[in-house]
Amino acid sequence: MTSLKIIGTGRNLPARRVTNDDLATFLDTSDEWIVTRTGIRSRRVCTSETLTDLSVTAAEQALDKAGLKAQNIDLLLCSTIGGDFRTPSLACCVAERLGTGCPAFDLNAACAGFVYALDVANLYLTKPEIKNILIVSAEKMSTQIDWNDRSTCVLFGDGAAACVVTRGNALRYLHLHTKADVAPLYMPSGPGNSPFIEDKTPGGFLHMAGQDVFKFAVGVIEGEIKRALDTVRLPPEQVDYFLLHQANKRIIDFAIARVKQPPEKFPLNIDRTGNISSASIPLLLDEMLEEGKIKPGDTLFMAAFGAGLTAGSCVMIWE
Ligand code: ACO
Repeated sequence: MTSLKIIGTGRNLPARRVTNDDLATFLDTSDEWIVTRTGIRSRRVCTSETLTDLSVTAAEQALDKAGLKAQNIDLLLCSTIGGDFRTPSLACCVAERLGTGCPAFDLNAACAGFVYALDVANLYLTKPEIKNILIVSAEKMSTQIDWNDRSTCVLFGDGAAACVVTRGNALRYLHLHTKADVAPLYMPSGPGNSPFIEDKTPGGFLHMAGQDVFKFAVGVIEGEIKRALDTVRLPPEQVDYFLLHQANKRIIDFAIARVKQPPEKFPLNIDRTGNISSASIPLLLDEMLEEGKIKPGDTLFMAAFGAGLTAGSCVMIWE
């Protein structure tokens, strides 16, 4: 397996913090319900920031830490459910602001997007002309949820995280799969104003069968951990951190119980960010690096799941 390593990370959250109590001013909900069912206390949401704004700052931090300029990037890859425009891609918007002319495109694997992007980056690194790849995972969930639907809108937040990858030996395992099932989690694109489309379902809002997604998520997390650790012959004791998609703290608590490892090995930011879809894991990674928690030689396991239903996991030895 070709392998990559991450040589710089960055993140950016919008300024506006929205607490559960803020939500309770216009929704039939409570801090107690949201904290108990999800572990979320607050989330950041965009007011004047565009997703490109968030992404560019995260990308600049990652480039800076990698000691690179935008001109040194050979590929710019964004994972997102939706950028500022349907077209051009978020990656092209970020490329314009960074001033790079390298190939740039988006991929959408919902919340599993960062792990999918790592896999794509890993494949691109087999091309001799590709040396440095900038991955930006960025989501503006606040424009994609129905703020009248208390069962979904309390769960999500906005944010961006970035990393620069190059050739290395960090990646030891990566597995992607899809349980192709649209019904539990989808966002219709809508009919536009075509007079010919018969299905008039309006576009825009995320629909989620929460309990079905919950069951899928706990199955994925347990299955992915077992499969990965069996494949690389690694006992769970030797994993320093399990960086899991931050969708619901109860899903992470389930993983802690199944893997029987100390909770400190399962870092959380969902209490402060909510579910930021594909930006969750790279954001967590950047926070942990900044706090000096991840050190060279540490073994990291990452797993995410999302609409599709998509799933992905990887094992990395931090270089
Ligand atoms: N405040 C108060 N009450 C609420 C709220 C709320 N915000 N939301 C729902 N309720 C009510 C429901 O109406 C229901 O009331 P009822 O019993 O009178 O009908 C009750 O609370 C229980 O609702 P459930 O849906 O059964 O609650 P549950 O314990 O399943 O928690 C949740 C819901 C948090 C959504 C959970 O199912 C979950 O986290 N699912 C996984 C979501 C996920 O992981 N998504 C990730 C993918 S996202 C992506 O890819 C974009």
